[in-house]
Amino acid sequence: MRVPVAIIGGGPSGLLLAQILHLAGIESIVLERRSRDHVLGRIRAGVLESGTQQILRQAGIGTRMDAQGLVHDGFAISHSGTINRIDLRNLTERTVLVYGQTEVTKDLYHARDSSGGIVLHGVEDVALHDLTGDTPFVTFCHDGEAQRIECDFVIGCDGFHGPSRQSIPADHRREFEQVYPFGWLGILSETTPASDELIYAAHDDGFALCSLRSHKLSRYYIQCRTDERVEDWSDARFWDTLRMRLPASVADRMETGPSIEKSIAPLRSHVCETMRYGRLFLAGDAAHIVPPTGAKGLNLAAADIHYLSEGLIAWYGQNDPSGLRTYAERALARVWKVERFSWWMTSLLHRFPDRPVFEQRMQRAELDYLAGSVAAQMALAENYVGLPY
Ligand code: APR
Ligand code: PHB
Repeated sequence: MRVPVAIIGGGPSGLLLAQILHLAGIESIVLERRSRDHVLGRIRAGVLESGTQQILRQAGIGTRMDAQGLVHDGFAISHSGTINRIDLRNLTERTVLVYGQTEVTKDLYHARDSSGGIVLHGVEDVALHDLTGDTPFVTFCHDGEAQRIECDFVIGCDGFHGPSRQSIPADHRREFEQVYPFGWLGILSETTPASDELIYAAHDDGFALCSLRSHKLSRYYIQCRTDERVEDWSDARFWDTLRMRLPASVADRMETGPSIEKSIAPLRSHVCETMRYGRLFLAGDAAHIVPPTGAKGLNLAAADIHYLSEGLIAWYGQNDPSGLRTYAERALARVWKVERFSWWMTSLLHRFPDRPVFEQRMQRAELDYLAGSVAAQMALAENYVGLPY
């Protein structure tokens, strides 16, 4: 089988690229290891920058997002019993949209189905070949049969654990990583959200976050140890810990109820330099991971796909290789800035087990500074709503 573009991974990155290429008349195939139900069962962050919204609209999947997404003009940061609002609209003249990644992925699958695009689920043993030649190919197993796809380009959208990044020889890539000494325990519950806007709470016992998916569906997180097990967290224990970390005014009026999902996620920052090897291009989590503080994962993936799709469309449409040649450089320039922001927000809001007392005081001083300085709030806000492309 031969297809112009072979995309490994059917998460948001791979599906979005397939959709944008389809609109430009470029055919692709998406190879996904898991079932569609599994992909749609993953719950991830739900804050879309305006640039991401624009990319999704241009890709023809903005209708449900615009109808159901909640426009947020600001969010709050609480610490030491105080709450400070970051007024995104006033500070930046922009807002963010709360619309879950699961919903974005659903919309992308819908679009693939409507246009007859191929997404092969349950593929095994994906391997990438001849990446530095003009006709790379991908081999894999599907329904018990060995398959081979020849293509012009291989796109690695297969997340942190996928085979694409590993296909770049070690002496052609450099990886940078920071693993944080804590995780996030998250729950979803059919309760009225504690607040209309997100609350990021720094507390001496650890971070907490109040988020939401709709007016009736709440998403909450608390910082936990990396060695903890979900089974040890009853709903009652979760609610008690969450309430304790929030300002009393929020905790006291909080509606609690049974969780409908509960999971622990580790926190990591990771960047792979480079994002291109011959005819292989990496995008999304395959190339970089950010900790969830600030909700940048999906937004960063969308930015990669924006640059990469421009490059591929120019290649096929005008025979112009410049966009593909500069892809890694353009994408990485943005990646590092967003990595910095996500790392900074994580450092600002979490309790680090072994942080020296001096640094603890620095953290408190920075929170105080942020609460009282429009300049500091502006720097936070312009990153939160999304840096320009
Ligand atoms: N073969 C085929 N597919 C694979 C393989 C493999 N060997 N390994 C992994 N995959 C698939 C995964 O099953 C997953 O569906 O690649 C997909 C990668 O999807 P994501 O992890 O969602 O990554 P990405 O599409 O880049 O999306 C980025 O998702 O992970 C969040 O925080 C991240 O929000 C960001 C966004
Ligand atoms: C979420 O709603 O899941 C969410 C929101 C904001 C974050 C992280 C996660 O920073």
